[in-house]
Amino acid sequence: MPKILVTGGCGYIGSHTIVDLIETGFEVISLDNLINSDESVLDGIFQITGKKILNFAVDLADREMLIPVFEQNSDIVGIIHFAALKSVNESVHRPLQYYSNNITGLINLLDLSERYSIKNFIFSSSCSVYGDSDELPVTELTPLKEAQCPYAYTKQAGERIIQDVTRVRDNFSSILLRYFNPAGAHHSALIGESSRNIASNLVPVITETAIGKRQSMTIFGSDYETRDGTCVRDYIHVMDIARAHTLALRYLLDQTEKQNESVVFNLGTGEGITVKEAIDAFEQVNGIKLNYTYGQRREGDVVAVYANNKKAQEILNWIPSRDINEIMRSAWEWEKVRSTIH
Ligand code: NAD
Ligand code: WQD
Repeated sequence: MPKILVTGGCGYIGSHTIVDLIETGFEVISLDNLINSDESVLDGIFQITGKKILNFAVDLADREMLIPVFEQNSDIVGIIHFAALKSVNESVHRPLQYYSNNITGLINLLDLSERYSIKNFIFSSSCSVYGDSDELPVTELTPLKEAQCPYAYTKQAGERIIQDVTRVRDNFSSILLRYFNPAGAHHSALIGESSRNIASNLVPVITETAIGKRQSMTIFGSDYETRDGTCVRDYIHVMDIARAHTLALRYLLDQTEKQNESVVFNLGTGEGITVKEAIDAFEQVNGIKLNYTYGQRREGDVVAVYANNKKAQEILNWIPSRDINEIMRSAWEWEKVRSTIH
């Protein structure tokens, strides 16, 4: 079984991807310093797959501490690099922490992947690299505009660093996956999103309001030029995102000749949903009335962004199969479990 190193394997998207990798026949080790997660997620992965995943609780920014991980696992054939700090708002207030963590971590990993002859690399990028895009839906060729925050800049810079390395390194291939708005949880409700940070993304804010952790929530802005005045986003189920990684890995491993160019894919459903529609879906699917009000626009929000995902469909054979209803159903099931254990 090919061995894959997943960085950030205890985090939200990393843990769901590990499940899909295992179920597809990969062997997985995780590297996660738990700055935004907890190793208890590995119990959930065990319950779903029957496999115990080993996590190396090491900081990617600490190069010396990484070496034993690679020494002990000389048979790693690919790296999926999720580990990063990801809060837009926090990055504005702590830019150096974001640059240091996200960029140094990436550089160390790329450096060690050369030293240990690891030829396949997948990077978690984000639709935030497009900035306030002029065209909709965005394709992989849509020009990247100015990053709106330090977090988004770490993704633009990360992509560029990987592209530059891929261009000159023999026998090395990389894929850059630009996620739109990942949400939802594994259908078993044994794993889901459980960030240490206070939630600010729409779906966890909705479920936290429904369970009573928040008294009410605010829809940020009701006077945008959209069909109901609220912002439009492309919510993509985390298990569909997970599957895209497995397919991307297969694509890299099946290549007979390395291409010296990073391949970029948008990971979204292709469908824009308004905030109001997302809330309506939650209420309808789960039979719960949500306590919300309309408030001011949130600074930095773009009016609308959604993906053209044809490239991933055509090249990776990736067909996202879960809709906003399944996102809201699974997110709610997970919230109910989470609130009993945390
Ligand atoms: P997450 O915070 O749940 O997972 C990231 C994991 O990386 C955490 O478990 C954290 O402890 C770990 N980590 C962070 N810095 C580390 C370091 N220096 N060394 C070792 N481990 C470290 O986040 P997520 O939602 O699973 O996101 C995964 C990736 O996807 C990130 O790169 C993120 O930027 C990207 N992304 C996320 C979203 C989203 O909305 N969730 C959207 C687009 C892109
Ligand atoms: C979605 C919509 C809010 C909370 C961010 C990052 C992006 C990517 C995904 C990492 C917006 C509205 C939200 C609330 C609301 N992450 N909203 N009330 O801002 O599209 O994207 O996460 O790469 O890079 O920027 O996601 O979930 O925060 O917001 O009305 O309490 O929900 O205004 O329109 P966003 P989000």
